[in-house]
Amino acid sequence: ATTSVKLNTGAVMPTVGLGTWKSKPGQVEHAVEFALKNGYKHIDTAAGYQNETEVGQGIKASGLPRDQMFLTTKLDNTDQRHPAKALEASLKKLDTTYLDLWLMHWPAPMTKDGQADKGHDWLDTWKAMEDLYLAHPEKLKAIGVSNFSVEYFERLLKVARVVPAVNQIELHPSCPQDDVVEYCQNRGIVMTAYSPLGSDNSPLLKNETVTKIAAKYDVQPANVLISLHANKPMHTVLPKSVTNERILNNAKIIDLTPEEIGELHDIDKTHHFRACHPSWTGFGGLGFPDCK
Ligand code: A2P
Repeated sequence: ATTSVKLNTGAVMPTVGLGTWKSKPGQVEHAVEFALKNGYKHIDTAAGYQNETEVGQGIKASGLPRDQMFLTTKLDNTDQRHPAKALEASLKKLDTTYLDLWLMHWPAPMTKDGQADKGHDWLDTWKAMEDLYLAHPEKLKAIGVSNFSVEYFERLLKVARVVPAVNQIELHPSCPQDDVVEYCQNRGIVMTAYSPLGSDNSPLLKNETVTKIAAKYDVQPANVLISLHANKPMHTVLPKSVTNERILNNAKIIDLTPEEIGELHDIDKTHHFRACHPSWTGFGGLGFPDCK
C-alpha cells in the first residue's frame, strides 16, 4: 500500500486525507485539530461545505506548520462566474496564503438559488482557474476537478492548457466507476475517493466480503474500504469522521492481496449504489452512466 502519490506537478499528496463533507461547524474544528495532531497530513474541504472557517481554525489549533500538510478546497458551483473572488474568500476563511489543490467542485455552474446557470459554460470556469494557477503559483500549487465523468474530460482535455492534477469522485466497492478511473490513470490524473465508506449508515460496513477480509487482518471494515484505494496506483482517499477513535482508526492502512481487491471489486455487481447522486441536484447525472 502507498502512503503518498505524486501529482503531475511533481508535488506529493498524502494518500489518506480527512474528509469534511457533512462535518459541521462545532465539530469539524476539533476533528481537523485531532487528525493533524495524530499523524494526518491531508485535509479536504470545499466552499460548499460551509465549514472552511472552522477547518482553518482546526488547522491553527493543531500547531502543525502549514507547509507540513496538504490542503484542498473546491470552487463552489455558485461561484463559477467569479473564481478569483471565490479563491480569495476561501483563502481568507481557511486563514492561509495558498492551497495545495483547488478543484472545480462540479462541472455545473449554478445561480445563487441553486438552479442550473445555463448562461455560463464550466469550460470557461476551467480557463479562469488555469489563468489563476498560471498567474499565481504562490497561491495555487495545483488545480483539478471533481465529479468529472469521461464525457466531461473529453471536452476539457481538447482545450486544457493545464491537465487537471486530480479528479475527486465517489469511489467505493459499490461505486467503482472503472471507466473514468482508467481514463484518468492513462493520463496521469490522480484519483481521490470521496465517501470511501459509502457515506452515512453505509451497508458496506456490514457487507460480508468486507467483514470477512476485516476479520482476517483484525481491523475494522472501514480499514478495508480505505485501504482498497491505498493499494491502487495513483489513488488517494478521504474518509470522513468527526469521532476521535474513528479518525485514529481510519489512518491505519493494510496491504490487500490481488484476490481480495478482486473480491471487493465484485461487490458492485450485486450491490451498486451512490451516496452522492448527481441527478438529485437537478443537473442530469453529468454523464455518469448510472445517473441518467
Ligand atoms: P462520524 O463522522 O460520525 O464518525 P465516508 O467517509 O464514506 O463519507 O463515511 C463517513 C461516515 O462513516 C460518517 O457517518 C462517519 O461517522 C462514519 N465513519 C467514519 N469512520 C468510521 C469507522 N471507522 N467505522 C464506522 N463508521 C465510520
